[in-house]
Amino acid sequence: MKALILSGGMGTRLRPFTYSMPKQLVPVANKPILTHCLENVRAIGVEDVAVVVGDRAEDIRAVVGDGSAYGLNVTYLQQEAPLGLAHAVAIAEEFLGDEDFVMYLGDNVLADGIAEPARDFLADRPAARLLLTKVDDPRAYGVAEVDAEGRVRALVEKPQQPRSDLAVIGVYFFTAAVHEAVRAIEPSARGELEITDAIQYLVERGDRVVAGEYSGYWKDTGSPDDLLDCNRVLLRGLHPGVRGEVDAASTLEGHVVVEAGALVERSHLVGPLVVGAGSVVRDSELGPYTALGRDCVLEDAGIRDSIVLDGVSIQGVRGLSGSLIGRSADVRGGEATGRRLIIGDHTRAEVAA
Ligand code: DAU
Repeated sequence: MKALILSGGMGTRLRPFTYSMPKQLVPVANKPILTHCLENVRAIGVEDVAVVVGDRAEDIRAVVGDGSAYGLNVTYLQQEAPLGLAHAVAIAEEFLGDEDFVMYLGDNVLADGIAEPARDFLADRPAARLLLTKVDDPRAYGVAEVDAEGRVRALVEKPQQPRSDLAVIGVYFFTAAVHEAVRAIEPSARGELEITDAIQYLVERGDRVVAGEYSGYWKDTGSPDDLLDCNRVLLRGLHPGVRGEVDAASTLEGHVVVEAGALVERSHLVGPLVVGAGSVVRDSELGPYTALGRDCVLEDAGIRDSIVLDGVSIQGVRGLSGSLIGRSADVRGGEATGRRLIIGDHTRAEVAA
């Protein structure tokens, strides 16, 4: 089986991060979301992966490289514009040939992997196998109607009046039958070649399209709150360990990872959390549920339930929580009287009244 990972598109909801970084590279538990996807496809035995990229191709290449760091052979496919998920399949047709493949949306987090649905797919190789999950508001997703045997009867993209509460997760297993369907469909009203339309085409011509509910944790990382939620879940799954330096005046509680080259002095760390390589934490309180990137400096600081990207400095500020702090940001207390903010376009700041 091959894999097709979609990492093009534009992430408007994650601004301001996505000005400087495509959303698939935003780190969760100190690893880009895309890395979690690559690890999940490797874990089911896939070796050959095509990554579909858009105008942020260079950033993606810088992280993924030739894939060898993940045990994968990665090929890049340039998509000239985000013309739809089925368009991505169309440009991958030559790479995929007549092999089965898993298509994985590079902004979806499946914390418990995809081994079970992969096994189910390989057991009887239907034209398509979808992963579904019940959601409160299905209008933001592809929505499936499924019969008692797990056969998909209908599929609609982002319906205003959903006919079920079963949302389609962004991981799809296909045989080569999907290529004919992709060639047969037309762009939707929003101008995209929709994968839901291609799958609906397979359903209507009588091919077997099946679906099962995903039993693990899933999130489509559309908003900062989604990222923080994923961060909490993935931090719980890290193997605790101190590879950096922690002095005797510091205390560690619970699931704590201190990466190589990090230094912790006179601080209280409550896991789950990770302190990235090369970061310095002094006289601070960290965690729980906090991912601190590489080469950060925290002094006299307090932060919990947050994602802090590489190179951030936080000095003299306590009580931070639910925060996403972008690369090389400088957050400081101290001299300022009142409140002073020097923040970029589309930034969000929430301060106590
Ligand atoms: O997350 C699950 C949902 O993903 C499904 O329920 C929907 O049926 C499916 O259409 C998709 O909806 P989204 O609105 O979340 O798709 P989005 O436009 O965010 O694209 C998903 C990923 O694919 C994202 O990493 C960007 C990438 N992409 C997207 C398009 C449209 C591409 O690489 N190329 C594209 O042309």
